[in-house]
Amino acid sequence: MQGLAVTSKLSLAVVVVVFLLGSAGAVHGLRRVVSSSSDEPCNEMTLYYHDILYNGVNNTKNATSAAATKPTALSTTHWKNGTYFGTLVVFNDPMTVGKALPVAGEEPAARAQEFYFYDKQESYTSWFGFSIVFNSTAHKGTLNLVGADLMDDKTRDLSVVGGTGDFFMARGIATLRLDASEGTVYFRLQMDIKLYECYV
Ligand SMILES: *[C@@H]1O[C@H](CO)[C@@H](O)[C@H](O)[C@H]1NC(C)=O
Ligand SMILES: *[C@@H]1O[C@H](CO)[C@@H](O)[C@H](O)[C@H]1NC(C)=O
Ligand SMILES: *[C@@H]1O[C@H](CO)[C@@H](O)[C@H](O)[C@H]1NC(C)=O
Ligand SMILES: *[C@@H]1O[C@H](CO)[C@@H](O)[C@H](O)[C@H]1NC(C)=O
Repeated sequence: MQGLAVTSKLSLAVVVVVFLLGSAGAVHGLRRVVSSSSDEPCNEMTLYYHDILYNGVNNTKNATSAAATKPTALSTTHWKNGTYFGTLVVFNDPMTVGKALPVAGEEPAARAQEFYFYDKQESYTSWFGFSIVFNSTAHKGTLNLVGADLMDDKTRDLSVVGGTGDFFMARGIATLRLDASEGTVYFRLQMDIKLYECYV
């Protein structure tokens, strides 16, 4: 009888420890799926990235990104009009499923958070490093993207180097295309995201 009580206490302790260990990670028992063909991603989605730049005058309410550095002197060595070489822009931009900006007060499908900087003297090119942060009923987690935005090319690819939450350990490619722009205060990118490694 005594022995039985000890055993059940022990097994309860084991269960509690296993439970605590288990709840430390967000996901359990997921299996890795690696796509065997570039035509068959294991997950794909299209999102629109809206960059509303602070114009330094009157759009503090709407702006979702701002230059954190001034261009360097080298930005005007090739063109008088300049290439922003050296400018770092920090953003917390809404991302949407459709092309329209979210209406006031509505949470976007995701947010794109981090930076790009202009990195060529002779023309406009930039480098992106950011997380797509999902916090909706549809998805929770992040996708992390980096890569060169060669703006002269009609489309360009960024690497999806990892993910968390619903996108645990994801990898893939995001293809970017300029979808709209308004002067120097707004541009919208279409991002076709294809994952080739997923945990499901
Ligand atoms: C905000 O400032 C910009 C740049 O000076 C100007 O073109 C625009 O008309 C202004 N918009 C409003 C709503 O005041
Ligand atoms: C801010 O956004 C609203 C809605 O899109 C627009 O009506 C307004 O003109 C914008 N204000 C500025 C200063 O850009
Ligand atoms: C700057 O302006 C020149 C024309 O004066 C144009 O050829 C060039 O493409 C422009 N540079 C950029 C980076 O837009
Ligand atoms: C995510 O959404 C929940 C529920 O709307 C909210 O309470 C929480 O603050 C959000 N988290 C972030 C990081 O925005």
